Amino acid sequence: MSKVTLSVIKADVGSYVGHSCVHPELMETAEQFLARKSESLLIDCLVTHVGDDMVLILTHEQGTDNAAIHELAWDTFMEATQTARKLKLYGAGQDLLADSFSGNIKGMGPGIAEMEFEERPSEPVVVFLADKTEPGAWNLPLYKIFADPFNTAGLVIDPKMHVGFDFEVHDLIEHKRIVFRCPEELYDMLVFIGAMGRYGIKAVYSRTLNDIAAVSSTQRLNLMAGRYVGKDDPVCIVRCQSGMPAVGEVLEPFARPHLVAGWMRGSHYGPLMPCSVKQSTPTRFDGPPRVVALGFQLCHGKLVGPQDFFADPAFDLARRKANEIADYMRSLGPFEPHRLGLDELEYTTMPEVMEKLSERFEPIE
Ligand code: F6R
Ligand code: MG
Ligand code: MG
Repeated sequence: MSKVTLSVIKADVGSYVGHSCVHPELMETAEQFLARKSESLLIDCLVTHVGDDMVLILTHEQGTDNAAIHELAWDTFMEATQTARKLKLYGAGQDLLADSFSGNIKGMGPGIAEMEFEERPSEPVVVFLADKTEPGAWNLPLYKIFADPFNTAGLVIDPKMHVGFDFEVHDLIEHKRIVFRCPEELYDMLVFIGAMGRYGIKAVYSRTLNDIAAVSSTQRLNLMAGRYVGKDDPVCIVRCQSGMPAVGEVLEPFARPHLVAGWMRGSHYGPLMPCSVKQSTPTRFDGPPRVVALGFQLCHGKLVGPQDFFADPAFDLARRKANEIADYMRSLGPFEPHRLGLDELEYTTMPEVMEKLSERFEPIE
């Protein structure tokens, strides 16, 4: 079989109520549009959501960065926007920064993670979807999955994994990239990926299998728009088993909720709470930030699944922990480190307040 491409593309094109969920009618619009328009272009597709973000999971043989696939996704979001406008849903068309498609959906608002690979005899993948956070949210879990032997036993025990993985890290501000060979360069890499607002792990490669293992979306909506539009609510794909991390090793980092940026007005840190698709409806203080994990077996490009992993009671404790952390963080109100630092508030309404008061600041002595 030729190579298969898995494209996960997401956008907030209108939600209800407020920034909480995608209305079922929007999902239907997208499903029907894809069924009508995809013709021979797709092998399979699934429309789902995380919080207020609609997510299209597409399989095909067109490769990554394919204009026809990107246009299909763009048109699907445009169509769903019509339904959102009809229902007067909140923020209709919010993430679509252009009036018409211009060749590549990257840089037009939606978030995208794509990988092309030869489907193995059995191909388990996990698709992660997050709401009320940003691309750097994947740094810590991807580090744990592919570089931390306390998380991933395979790094010690599985000869195919023992050699390590290569991490492609992007500087999201200066648009540069670097590849770190791990475990040798772990300490160097951590200097960068610990700064989650600036550096993002774009992809991970297995050194033994010489193949892609994970890819994430790294779009920064606000940097593109030059103003606060909403958070970038990222997606991520991880291949599992047979020399890649086991499914359980891939899910394990989410058992201890870490702090991510993006809660309330994209301006607060909060814990990333693992939950089912159904539970991915931010409430308290528009959060806390959510992450969903959908498992699929690919079968000649067909999506066998999804298995909604975080619906499992094994993640109940993580949810309770996340709620406790959320409660504590909320007690800090508008103070850091609940609220983001000033430099990270650059694309919110904060600069307007600064501007308004700039005249009144005077030198001390
Ligand atoms: C966070 C988020 C929400 C909104 C908030 C204000 O990513 O989407 O917390 O920022 O509800 O929304 P507006 O400005 O649309 O009233
Ligand atoms: Mg929204
Ligand atoms: Mg969202």
